[in-house]
Amino acid sequence: MAVYKMMMGFIFIVTYMCFLAPVHQAHPPNVTISDLSFKNMDFAMNLYRKISSYHDKNIFFSPLSISTSFAALLLACDGVTHEEILKGLNLEQLGQADQPELIPKLFQLLNENVTQNGSLKLDQSMALFLHHQFEVEKLFEEQIKTFFDGDIKSLDFMDTKRSISLINEYIKHKTEDKVTDMISTLNVATQLMLINTIFFQGTWQMPFNPNFTDSASFYIDNYSVVQVPMMFKEDKFYTMVDYPLGAKVLKLPYQDGVSMLILLPNKGMDYTVIDDEITTDKFLNWIKNLQKTKLEISIPKFKMEQSYSLHKLLPDMGMASIFSNSANLTKLSQDHGLKVSEVLHKAVIEVDEAGTTAAAATSIGITPYSLPRTFFVNRPFFFFIYHEDTNCLLFMGRVIDPTKN
Ligand SMILES: *[C@@H]1O[C@H](CO)[C@@H](O)[C@H](O)[C@H]1NC(C)=O
Ligand SMILES: *[C@@H]1O[C@H](CO)[C@@H](O)[C@H](O)[C@H]1NC(C)=O
Ligand SMILES: *[C@@H]1O[C@H](CO)[C@@H](O)[C@H](O)[C@H]1NC(C)=O
Ligand SMILES: *[C@@H]1O[C@H](CO)[C@@H](O)[C@H](O)[C@H]1NC(C)=O
Ligand SMILES: *[C@@H]1O[C@H](CO)[C@@H](O)[C@H](O)[C@H]1NC(C)=O
Ligand SMILES: *[C@@H]1O[C@H](CO)[C@@H](O)[C@H](O)[C@H]1NC(C)=O
Repeated sequence: MAVYKMMMGFIFIVTYMCFLAPVHQAHPPNVTISDLSFKNMDFAMNLYRKISSYHDKNIFFSPLSISTSFAALLLACDGVTHEEILKGLNLEQLGQADQPELIPKLFQLLNENVTQNGSLKLDQSMALFLHHQFEVEKLFEEQIKTFFDGDIKSLDFMDTKRSISLINEYIKHKTEDKVTDMISTLNVATQLMLINTIFFQGTWQMPFNPNFTDSASFYIDNYSVVQVPMMFKEDKFYTMVDYPLGAKVLKLPYQDGVSMLILLPNKGMDYTVIDDEITTDKFLNWIKNLQKTKLEISIPKFKMEQSYSLHKLLPDMGMASIFSNSANLTKLSQDHGLKVSEVLHKAVIEVDEAGTTAAAATSIGITPYSLPRTFFVNRPFFFFIYHEDTNCLLFMGRVIDPTKN
């Protein structure tokens, strides 16, 4: 029988112009990768609130990928631009002037930790596409290779048609065909583009039986109801109730140390209220207070694709100069007037049905009776996909309408 699995791909693009660089050597980090994960999570929650303040649709993005991409850009920046990005990413405390390679090194260690078991399918990749007339500063090229395993590729951006095709081909390949036609237009003035992809495929520890999947109602709000394919399962799950918030939480573990956490607002609760309450502290509190109990659960199958123009969101979060004429990218190029013109982030998620056998759940926990007996995800919900050892947030999102791609 098939495997119950979840797949997602994700993409990130930065376009800008320039090159060249100095730098020094790094010491082994004194800070831990868990410290980095917490900082990244803070940034993710801030970004989430920014995105959710713009619309009331589905949301999906990869905090890890966005943080990683900007960490790579840090190696190119100097002066005010560098400070702004450090601060915007919440990495100020980790950014030690005498150790410029500390942050890239931490990202490298975090990535190694998260993917430790070859069985966890989490492929991150980074590529720099640059206009062929430019020459990359050796040091910068080495750093991108060392810390981010990045490729540097030369393109003729004047030949936009061919460049688009080469870039799309690269992304398609890196995301195992999950993201095709990433870009459709390209500015001829583009001189450098940074693309970062992340692809994750997880298998549930406790798969759903496809035989039980059935059409069911999903209540978008008081007035709109849609029919969705709903998966059912009865087993022991980790759950908790956040009474002050008016929501409950369910953990669905994948194999290899990654889990999905679902946050379901109570019936009648306005999800936009919860939007503003999603913080790192709350998240850590939820996972700390999970308890195992017997539950009937139902989760909709869903699939979505979201794109964000981060160059429109990030200036509001204090990262403005890199997109402006005062961008300081002198570690990449000594040419003046270089700036990042576009940051496009695209994420694809597919919670699909194709079942395999389960690794099975084990011991019995103490079950206080305040815990629910059922967990029916039949209304808008939030989800987080995270690595348990490090609390590294790989993906996060919100589903308002599971039928909308
Ligand atoms: C490095 O770690 C040690 C021991 O954990 C701590 O005492 C020291 O303050 C740290 N140094 C810095 C610069 O954070
Ligand atoms: C970039 O920042 C460095 C360090 O602050 C400074 O020396 C340099 O003049 C700046 N360059 C530009 C073009 O702003
Ligand atoms: C990954 O990081 C966590 C938290 O710092 C640590 O407990 C674990 O041992 C690390 N795993 C590996 C394989 O390095
Ligand atoms: C994967 O990692 C987990 C926890 O770090 C460990 O218990 C397990 O043995 C590892 N599996 C493999 C195949 O390395
Ligand atoms: C699903 O139903 C078919 C036909 O009744 C049965 O052969 C199969 O074993 C069932 N699958 C599972 C996972 O229970
Ligand atoms: C939806 O209905 C519930 C109870 O029927 C009510 O409390 C809530 O205010 C309604 N929400 C909206 C947005 O109308």
